[in-house]
Amino acid sequence: MKVNSIGYQVVIGSESIKALTAFLKKGKYSQYFILGDENTIQHCLPALISKCQVLSKAEVFEVESGEVSKGLSICSQLWQTMLDYKADKQALIINLGGGVICDLGGFIASVYKRGIDFVNIPTSLLAMTDASIGGKTGINLEGVKNVLGTITQPKGVFIIPEFLATLPERHIDNGLAEIYKIALISDKAFWNKLAVGKTKGIEELITRSVQLKNNIVKKDPGEKNIRKALNFGHTIGHAMESACFGRKEDLLHGEAIIIGMLCESFIAYKKKLISKDEMTEITQILRFTFTLNKVSSSEFQKVGEFLLNDKKNKNGKILFALPDGIGKCRTDVAVNENLIAQSLDFYNSIANAKA
Ligand SMILES: NC(=O)c1ccc[n+]([C@@H]2O[C@H](COP(=O)([O-])OP(=O)(O)OC[C@H]3O[C@@H](n4cnc5c(N)ncnc54)[C@H](O)[C@@H]3O)[C@@H](O)[C@H]2O)c1
Repeated sequence: MKVNSIGYQVVIGSESIKALTAFLKKGKYSQYFILGDENTIQHCLPALISKCQVLSKAEVFEVESGEVSKGLSICSQLWQTMLDYKADKQALIINLGGGVICDLGGFIASVYKRGIDFVNIPTSLLAMTDASIGGKTGINLEGVKNVLGTITQPKGVFIIPEFLATLPERHIDNGLAEIYKIALISDKAFWNKLAVGKTKGIEELITRSVQLKNNIVKKDPGEKNIRKALNFGHTIGHAMESACFGRKEDLLHGEAIIIGMLCESFIAYKKKLISKDEMTEITQILRFTFTLNKVSSSEFQKVGEFLLNDKKNKNGKILFALPDGIGKCRTDVAVNENLIAQSLDFYNSIANAKA
């Protein structure tokens, strides 16, 4: 399956390796740099090289897995190493990993020598369905998520669902979160299918999510209007991630987004954008599918502080993308702090006590 994006293709499934090989041949790159973390280098790199032999001559950069690697010091080390390898403008970065690697490698490439090419080979469900497409690259600063970044499109995205065989279960749920999000804001029929478990398998889920995200990104790559819809669940979700950064057991991106989706659906209901029945339906489906842990009051307090610093705020107003019925979305809805606090209390009232 091929999906046309902004100047590149997303290839999903059995045709991916053939398409990647053809892309590399055509590109005449001076050097290949594969960026991964210890898990993707252990579980995915050998299979990739055995199927795409030309990559056996690539230099491999390994960073520690997780958000800790999305920081400036890792970027400096990677840029310095590329200089040591005399990487020129014709070098190619190949991001082999989850959303962290795609965001980090895309950022490294978009800035190095004012921009070199990169491709994404996503290995987590979240990266396959979301982070590898759309061109957002970025890193965190002092624990605040994605403050530094660029919008730079990859030259190709090659999705090999077999890589999910080694992905831990918790990270499968993490990726499912973004699939439920895109369905809820843009495709009622897909949402209904998810609700009754009538999807045919993981490749169908990936393909539909990629198509839906791509439809939105193509219309508005720079996030001036409709792309803001993708931020549903992310205003509170990102603040949650920042508030919980460094927790003993970190909150995963998708887990934070589920909290954000529930709080923001509550806000949409209070703003009369969705009915009580729709609100109940969303809550029931997300509760049934995902584990919801309570959030401590100190973390809630920090959420409030981070929200005031959100990238999407305008003139001191906290702006949200909210569902406008199921399958549609309204952007730039200003929400006051009192309603945000109510939504967090609502979340805790339906979440399980933390184990
Ligand atoms: N750019 C975007 O549009 C966008 C969209 C959504 C999320 N993101 C970003 O993505 C990041 C989260 O992505 P993620 O959830 O993929 O996290 P991740 O990259 O940390 O991957 C999750 C874990 O799974 C491991 N892993 C990945 N693939 C594996 C495989 N095939 N087998 C075994 N282990 C594997 C990784 O090593 C890591 O430990 C966040 O930083 C978030 O901000 C970006």
